[in-house]
Amino acid sequence: MAGSRERWNSKAGFVFAAVGSAVGLGNMWRFSYMTAESGGAAFVALYLGFTVLVGVPIMLAELTIGRGSGKSPIQALAHYGRDRLGGSAWKALGVVFVLAGFIIISYYGVIAGWTLRYAAEALVGFGSDAGAHFGEISEGLDAFLFHVVFMAVTIAIVRRGVSSGIERVSLVAMPALLVLVIGIALYAATLDGGSAGYAYYLNADFANVFSTKVVVDAAGQAFFSLSLGMGAILTYASYLDRDNNLPAQSGVIAASDFGVAFLAGLMVFPLIFALGLEGEVSGSTIGALFVALPKAFAGMGAAGQVVGFLFFVALVVGALTSAISLLEVVVSAGMDGLGWERPRSAIVMGVAATAMGAASAWNIKVLGVMDGVANNLFLVGGGLGLALFVGWIMKDPIEEANEGAGGSRIWLVIWLNLLRFAVPIVLIWVLWHSVPETLRSVADLF
Ligand code: TRP
Repeated sequence: MAGSRERWNSKAGFVFAAVGSAVGLGNMWRFSYMTAESGGAAFVALYLGFTVLVGVPIMLAELTIGRGSGKSPIQALAHYGRDRLGGSAWKALGVVFVLAGFIIISYYGVIAGWTLRYAAEALVGFGSDAGAHFGEISEGLDAFLFHVVFMAVTIAIVRRGVSSGIERVSLVAMPALLVLVIGIALYAATLDGGSAGYAYYLNADFANVFSTKVVVDAAGQAFFSLSLGMGAILTYASYLDRDNNLPAQSGVIAASDFGVAFLAGLMVFPLIFALGLEGEVSGSTIGALFVALPKAFAGMGAAGQVVGFLFFVALVVGALTSAISLLEVVVSAGMDGLGWERPRSAIVMGVAATAMGAASAWNIKVLGVMDGVANNLFLVGGGLGLALFVGWIMKDPIEEANEGAGGSRIWLVIWLNLLRFAVPIVLIWVLWHSVPETLRSVADLF
């Protein structure tokens, strides 16, 4: 591409876009069902731990590589790998990122499509048999068509570019989302019987925390929710100027992301418990919330119609700014790697990702396996690669991260040592315990 790289219009615009990437279905749908499955607050505590000790360091690693290179993932890794151990072979990690982007967006669009449909249906009121309804709409042509609609909007925004597409949408969407989530959480607080939901959500049963599965799930959830491990944040940072304070921004993005997830729990659990529907989510699965919540809203009369609508609108808005960032990774790869113009890359990559979604749209088991593979293998593995790259390979990471910050370097020394030692050890432990089972789940599909 001739000319210089696209730029964010303002620092706030970048931060809103990055928060928009992080905050999405992962915070609302995935966080709630994972928390329900793992028994409540203990999982939340672990997930917070991963966010702070693993997520923030990797977030800063992605920001540093992206801004410093001014390139999308494959070229960025080649840039910093050049003349270092491994050399341009580090490109392969970037290729894995792009692959992960395709996989995640393909099924993410399908879930967003369910959400879109539910927003519309909430207005006319959910029927009585939510379980059967979800079974009918979650698979097949219906699911695919709503996925197509959602993806078409995503593609149109990415096609318009960084500042006039992604940034503009994020500046409107994120405040709107926050208002909706806080409003619904306040409404939920007024429900009789909701207190059992808070008790479930906020009382830690630490006996559970030490199960390997819960720890592995909390790690995968932290990566997914923060959009880490596949170069999405890296790509957004490649449009940044050097006067941005990256350490501060990584903290703001992570705190916002955790904050919205926490608020989502404050909406979902009282809503479900107030209607006595906790049985619906114990032993929770992908579809649990799409069954339990419509039941809860149906039980609330007219208020349920309004709140249900707003709830699913919030989910769609969150999903949109996240899907945009997933698509941007593969679109920027097409631009930087294949020399395509943005509009062409947005359409070709977007249509390819949409078509791939057919596999998940027609089979919810495939969707679940893709989600497991993406989180437990690709994102955690990608995070390990990034930690090792910045910790051991890249030249002068502290100087690069500190540009535009100029604060005390002690935190950056701690950061680098986390990336060198603690983060890889933790992630290798997680992979050790998750890879066999994840591979088995893939084999079971056939
Ligand atoms: N973080 C988003 C969510 O919570 C999903 C997402 C967007 C994502 N971009 C990503 C996940 C990049 C992993 C990697 O819904």
